[in-house]
Amino acid sequence: MHISSFFALSSLLSLGVAQTITGQYDCLPAGGFTLCQNLWGEAAGVGSQKSTLASSSTASVSWSTNYTWANGPNNVKSYANVLSTTSKGVQLQNVASAPTAWNWNYTSQSSGIRADVSYDIWFGKASSGSPATSASSYEIMIWLSGLGGIQPVGSQITTATPVANHTWNVWKGPNANWQVISFVSSTGDINDFNVDLNAFFTYLVNSQGVASTQYIQAIQAGTEAFVGTANLVTNSYSVSIVSK
Ligand SMILES: *[C@@H]1O[C@H](CO)[C@@H](O)[C@H](O)[C@H]1NC(C)=O
Ligand SMILES: *[C@@H]1O[C@H](CO)[C@@H](O)[C@H](O)[C@H]1NC(C)=O
Ligand SMILES: *[C@@H]1O[C@H](CO)[C@@H](O)[C@H](O)[C@H]1NC(C)=O
Repeated sequence: MHISSFFALSSLLSLGVAQTITGQYDCLPAGGFTLCQNLWGEAAGVGSQKSTLASSSTASVSWSTNYTWANGPNNVKSYANVLSTTSKGVQLQNVASAPTAWNWNYTSQSSGIRADVSYDIWFGKASSGSPATSASSYEIMIWLSGLGGIQPVGSQITTATPVANHTWNVWKGPNANWQVISFVSSTGDINDFNVDLNAFFTYLVNSQGVASTQYIQAIQAGTEAFVGTANLVTNSYSVSIVSK
C-alpha cells in the first residue's frame, strides 16, 4: 500500500466514527482539543446530556451536544466544551494574533430554552493553571448567543462596545477568587464567528485594567445550559495563538 492511500484511509475512518460521552465529567481526546461534558451543575436540576465528537484534527474540531434539563432555571447545569490543548501559556503582551473561527447552530431547540454559546477564556499570573482554580485571575466570556433572558456574572458596564468587528455589552463582576468579564453580543446570535481574539485581549488591557503580563491559561468554547431541550452542533471550531 502506498503511504498516501494509507493516510487517505485513516482520515476517512477518523471522520466516520463518532464517539459519544454521557457521564458527568467524561472527556474525549479530539485532535488538538479535549471535548468534555462538564455537567458541573447537574444537581441543581433534573435531566441528562450527551456530547458527540464528529471529527477532529490538530487544527479543528466538529462536535455536538444534546440535552434536556428542567428545574433551577437560574442555575447553570453544564458547560460542555472543547478545550484547546495548545493555545495557552502566552502572556497577553506577547500575543501577535489569536485567530478563531466557530460555525455553529441549533438543529433542535425547545421553546423557553435558557442557554448561552460561549468562549470561556482563563487568565492568570502563572504561565499555566487549570480553569476555575486558585491559579485563575480572570475569566473572560464571549457570548455568541444568550437565550431566555440569562445574564453573565456581575453587572453591565458598557453597551454595544465595538470589538473585533462585532458589538458587545460588557459585564463585569467577581466570582470566587477571580474577576469575570463577559462580552455579550448586542446583535443577537453570531452563528459564523471568525475573528482575531487579540482584539478582545487588547481591549481588556487598554480599557478594563487587565495587566498585559497576565498569561492565557486556557481557551474553552462550549455552551452553558440552564433549562430546555436542545441539540447544538458545532460544524467547525478552531483557535490558535501566534506569539510575537
Ligand atoms: C437527542 O437525544 C434524544 C434522547 O436520547 C434523542 O431522542 C434525539 O434524537 C437526539 N437528537 C439528536 C439531534 O441527536
Ligand atoms: C446548520 O449548519 C449546517 C452547516 O452550515 C447546515 O447544513 C444546516 O442546515 C444548519 N441547520 C440549521 C437548523 O440551521
Ligand atoms: C475584521 O474584519 C476584517 C475584514 O474581514 C479582518 O481583516 C480583520 O481581521 C477583522 N478583525 C478582527 C479583530 O477579527
